[in-house]
Amino acid sequence: MAIRSSASAQSKPPGPRDYLGLGTLRAFRRDALGTLLDLRHTYGDIVYATLFFAPTYFLFHPDHVGHVLQKNHRNYKRSRNSDALKPTLGNGLLTNDGASWLKQRRLMQPAFHRSRVARFGETMTHESHKLVAGWRDHASQGTPINVSSEMMRLTLNIVSRTMFGATVGQDAAPLESAVTLVQEQASRRIFSPVTMPEWAPLPVVRRTKAARRTIERVVTRIIDDRRRSDAADHDDLLSMLMHAKDADTGESMDDAQLRDEVRTIFLAGHETTSNALTWTWYLLARNPTAAARLQAELDGVLGGRMPTVADLPQLTYTKMVVEEAMRLLPPVWGLSREAIGDDEIGGYRIPAGSTVAVSQYITHRHPALWEDPEAFAPERFTPERARRRNRFAYFPFGGGPRVCIGSTFAMFEAQLVLATIAQQYSLELVPDHPVALEPLITLRPKYGMMMIPHSRVPGVGRSAGRAQRPA
Ligand code: HEM
Repeated sequence: MAIRSSASAQSKPPGPRDYLGLGTLRAFRRDALGTLLDLRHTYGDIVYATLFFAPTYFLFHPDHVGHVLQKNHRNYKRSRNSDALKPTLGNGLLTNDGASWLKQRRLMQPAFHRSRVARFGETMTHESHKLVAGWRDHASQGTPINVSSEMMRLTLNIVSRTMFGATVGQDAAPLESAVTLVQEQASRRIFSPVTMPEWAPLPVVRRTKAARRTIERVVTRIIDDRRRSDAADHDDLLSMLMHAKDADTGESMDDAQLRDEVRTIFLAGHETTSNALTWTWYLLARNPTAAARLQAELDGVLGGRMPTVADLPQLTYTKMVVEEAMRLLPPVWGLSREAIGDDEIGGYRIPAGSTVAVSQYITHRHPALWEDPEAFAPERFTPERARRRNRFAYFPFGGGPRVCIGSTFAMFEAQLVLATIAQQYSLELVPDHPVALEPLITLRPKYGMMMIPHSRVPGVGRSAGRAQRPA
């Protein structure tokens, strides 16, 4: 809802005096997270900056985040930043807007209901167990694995099997490179003053198109396989999408929309959780006390057997570890919207057409909200402490009507993967391996995450821990 600005609303919040916004844009391209930290530190919780002629309001206070995402969400639509994802995702749920978005969201929501997601628990633990079977030699020889690639492969297999009844197999590696390339292209487009035309005869454009073709090829295979199989055998998101009928017209979803939804779930549904898990392993390796407490909980609750969804209420510390990892290193580090009508936030007028940007990375380490914000302390997420916090002090999955549709899926998955693997292995960072944050659309480790697995099962590897072998 657009609101009339009160007489006292000031016109512009403080911010850098860079009228064209080229300098600020350049700073974002160089170091987006550092620039956001600087903006908050220098100018406060509401900052105005021009990003190459685009008036942008940065909102770091949770009340203002909640205002945009939830309280006055009707006044905000997808910003032009989501156009950067359209060449890859088309008009799927993430990039869609308005009535078409609402129709698709209502249609897909039941596939993500808690009770349905709970049925995927076994696939999640089974795939994790299968993955780490390949770590045995590394553990016995003390050689590193790239945990980032491993988690990517795992989450890709999980989302393909559970949502589409499909396997990825040999496609995992090309898909990993393709996802990296399309993300690089999308973030370049967001932080670039000019948009590179799709017809430009440049290697980077050719590579990005090839990456999109790789993704398209896998999506086509998944849909074609299903069309050939007996649809009655399946009870998953894919069959839900394929058999959906419009309540008014009785028409099925057209092929282009079906492909866009599959591509969106396929990409949004693995890369984020993979990053959450990769950063969790990294933070555990750097915080041995938390790692020991996690393993004590797993040993105590599971006693060596495979975890199930029914164990999750007892695995409280496991959940807190995942939540704290997503606080410090949120897989989605920022979101933006465009104001439809004028608004007023924190005493400032937000004119129609301006961009508002919020950042999990900044609000999750806001010193007024979090004590010792840079410390990894899962205890912050006890239910009592979480209840006392502002709802939007922590929003890894966004909020309001466009909250992540896969949040329950992602939390079940992250906890079950962590519980399955941490019972069997602890992971040590390779000491000289550089770890750097790469904020593309998601927050990724720039140089991968090289770690050495140490087995906790006697007789496997060089560093056996307690005698526990999952059943
Ligand atoms: C740790 C893992 C994940 C994180 C941190 C995450 C984060 C987010 C965030 C912040 C949004 C909101 C975007 C916005 O408001 O503009 C979002 C939306 C979305 N997420 Fe996730 N996500 C995760 C896992 C998943 C999974 C597992 C799936 C599917 C299986 C998924 C599918 C989607 C979709 C389709 C949307 C768009 C929803 C809409 O606009 O209606 N995500 N996610």
